[in-house]
Amino acid sequence: MLKDKTIVLGVTGGIAAYKAADIVSRLKKQGAHVHCVMTEGAQAFLTPLTLRTLSGNPVITAMFDEPKQWNVEHVALADKADFFLIAPATANIIGKVANGIADDFLSTTIMATTAQVIFAPAMNVNMYNNPIFQENMAKLKKAGYLFIEPGEGDLACGYKGKGRMAEPEKIVNFLQDLLNRQKDLEGINILVTAGPTREPIDPVRYITNRSSGKMGYSIAERAVKRGACVTLISGPTSLTPPEGVNLIKVETAEEMFSKVKEHYASNQVIIKAAAVSDYRPKFYQEAKIKKSEGDLQIVLGRNPDILNFLGQNKGKRILVGFAAETNDLQVNAQKKITKKNLDFIVANDVTEKGAGFNYDTNKVTLFFPSGEQKNLPLMSKLQVADIILDEVKLLLSNKGVS
Ligand code: CTP
Repeated sequence: MLKDKTIVLGVTGGIAAYKAADIVSRLKKQGAHVHCVMTEGAQAFLTPLTLRTLSGNPVITAMFDEPKQWNVEHVALADKADFFLIAPATANIIGKVANGIADDFLSTTIMATTAQVIFAPAMNVNMYNNPIFQENMAKLKKAGYLFIEPGEGDLACGYKGKGRMAEPEKIVNFLQDLLNRQKDLEGINILVTAGPTREPIDPVRYITNRSSGKMGYSIAERAVKRGACVTLISGPTSLTPPEGVNLIKVETAEEMFSKVKEHYASNQVIIKAAAVSDYRPKFYQEAKIKKSEGDLQIVLGRNPDILNFLGQNKGKRILVGFAAETNDLQVNAQKKITKKNLDFIVANDVTEKGAGFNYDTNKVTLFFPSGEQKNLPLMSKLQVADIILDEVKLLLSNKGVS
């Protein structure tokens, strides 16, 4: 329930602004305190009086109103707010925030608030697909802003496609889910592995793979935010570790194995997002290999399969594996679940656009031992992380752990 939660609702100028009234009334019905801010554009579609009546609070309509309705206390309120929702959010407000422009009350407050900001975009399909808008959205997602995907269908502008603001019911459910997740993993120890491994050939060369570590780091970030105590064992990446995690840096698969063995016992959940190299050069050359006329052959030897070890020593722990595949996703993923004794596996086809290595987004399918599968649409890695953690949470509850 959103009872007694404080929500600041920013309304920008689009035909969907009329739906803001429905959002306010749904939030009020749940017992939330709602404070509305309207841009000038929004007021062309909906009167402040409507939102004032529904919310029971004054509506902020301009930065320099006399007498000022919004003062320092109001900014503090935006800070204290549980959520700062912008619905509908035009390409304009998203573009402004993404580029640091604060030229009216709403954009200024969004940039000043420390509350979780959520955008519910609404616009013409071509604007939505415009690469500049997509870039702005990606930039904001990366900075931790959340987006409620618009729906597809007939748009008010006469076009068909993606751009219709999510329905008020869906928006309110989104906030509800977000709230339910806050600190729901308190008291749980989670071990996450991330990134590639690096297998040295000689002092200057190594074998590695294309993993960026983003998926594992996103899981660690969300798990910490949700109250878990997180140990992140990471291969070499260029990422900034999320605040609050216990980071252990490794290079090779063997080092990762040794650190996992050291730490796994004290964790109830292990999520193996790392792309561990299956092989390593069998003979490490102490001196740099010099070129010669003929071919050079490097003999590779097998690395330990860390996930396999964990599956065999799992006990009551929840064990989640990853599978990056280029073909036969389902068959390969199901095989790995059985072979490695997993609770579920997160599989992605790395040949899909926007999925896999180095993207901020991912498109994955979760496979379960029962044969059940959940296909998720393309979404940010942080959102994928939350869904993985939701499944983990459910499994923990089923096992009576929380
Ligand atoms: N993994 C591991 N240790 C390894 C290799 C992989 O722990 N030496 C883990 C990864 O962290 C990931 C999962 O196993 O969670 C990937 O499964 P795996 O079958 O090893 O994938 P591939 O290495 O791609 O296997 P295959 O070559 O059979 O596709």
